[in-house]
Amino acid sequence: MTSPVIPADLAAWCSRNDARAQDELFAFLRIPSVSAKSEHQSDCAAAAAFVADALTTIGFDAEIVATDGHPIVVGEWRKAGPDAPTLLIYGHYDVQPAEPLELWTSPAFEPTIRDGRIYARGSVDDKGQLYLHIKALEAHLVVRGTLPVNVIVIAEGEEEVGSVNLEQFLEREQQRLRCDAVVISDSCMFAPGIPSILSSLRGMAYVQIDVRGAKGDLHSGMYGGAVVNPAMALARILATMHDANGRVAIDGFYDKVLPFPEAVRAGMRALPHSDAELMHEVGVAALGGEPGYTTLERLWTRPTCEVNGLLSGYTGEGAKTVLPAVSMAKVSFRLVPDQDPDQIVELVRRHVARVTPAGVTASVTAMHGGRPWRADLKGPIIEAGKRALTAAFGREPVITGEGGSIPVVGDFERILGAPVLLMGFGLPGENAHAPNEWISVENYRLGIRAAATLIDEFARAR
Ligand code: BES
Ligand code: ZN
Repeated sequence: MTSPVIPADLAAWCSRNDARAQDELFAFLRIPSVSAKSEHQSDCAAAAAFVADALTTIGFDAEIVATDGHPIVVGEWRKAGPDAPTLLIYGHYDVQPAEPLELWTSPAFEPTIRDGRIYARGSVDDKGQLYLHIKALEAHLVVRGTLPVNVIVIAEGEEEVGSVNLEQFLEREQQRLRCDAVVISDSCMFAPGIPSILSSLRGMAYVQIDVRGAKGDLHSGMYGGAVVNPAMALARILATMHDANGRVAIDGFYDKVLPFPEAVRAGMRALPHSDAELMHEVGVAALGGEPGYTTLERLWTRPTCEVNGLLSGYTGEGAKTVLPAVSMAKVSFRLVPDQDPDQIVELVRRHVARVTPAGVTASVTAMHGGRPWRADLKGPIIEAGKRALTAAFGREPVITGEGGSIPVVGDFERILGAPVLLMGFGLPGENAHAPNEWISVENYRLGIRAAATLIDEFARAR
């Protein structure tokens, strides 16, 4: 095998255009396209329009498809002809809420460079990683006037809220979206300088639990001790979800879990992971989780139950003596093959019904879900990805797993029948979903080069 390189013509274009590619990303990052909040609906529309414009400017046909939620942008370039392969590039233009705003060193929607990092909400998740593909396509179209493959770009605006309208869109547009492979950059590398290809993603079942007690808030002295407290009841309900060792204690929760192949586990153990570094990165004195598994196995191969938010009673300044009437928790379950999100919600419902104390009622509302995914790691797109990353980063990628979820990945395989390459350019500590999110300036640049090289390698690999 010849050792892969970034094609010289594309490399030269990238060097001449790095500054502009960064400026354009900054403009994209200034749009506060927070999908979870209705007040940002017009910002999501603006971000969709931004992507569509970026695609038409480089010579794509672009369409903004309305959905029941935020629009989906579809870009198409099909001049390589019916005999050439088709590559589908997927990313998302929506971002997580930026709160708590006071913890940002520079404003969330005013991209700022410090220490070789671009700080902004969405910088790494996923605007930077989406936009670098558009710049890679531009490199080809400007330098060569053409692409060696047909390309479809899908940018959605609801990934951070569970991709609720995308599956239906894929089903409906199955013919038009037919493709030979999908590439997604919405994940991180194992470590700086070590490019990575993902072999798995966890799935998701997200529920809200509402507990109701008395018909209104009560004086905690006049009623406390005789009327059941919904905050305490919810705490009890949540506490029953794990056993004392940290295993999920919901009946049937592990029934569908498949063991990870021993070769995959061995590969994970061979990666240079350090618990001490992880503790330092996140600022804790100890780690905890399911017994019998290493940290990477816990993160990448085991399902979880986590409280994402809790609300009840008085949380303002000072003290108020009140027995709250209601309490609420947002609880998510990360899933692994072959757990099914709908079945997990059903098990949670049964569990909550069983453990809810008399005197309160509890309801479980399903919010969104996504199936877990495991890659085959074979075929032209994976080979092309390995070569493109090797060319851009000067070393071969490692194979990693991932604890996060990209709900649509399984749908691409199931509905479009196309293998998916996940090559991400984030880094550990990137603060995705948290204050001070960043993408490394260097990875954004190398990402453009890798994505540009991928297209040549994919055309050749088939
Ligand atoms: N980019 C992330 C997924 C991810 C995180 C991949 C870390 C690799 C490493 C994505 O935007 C995300 O956060 N997804 C949500 C999906 C959920 C709302 C269904 C997630 O994982 O919480
Ligand atoms: Zn993302």
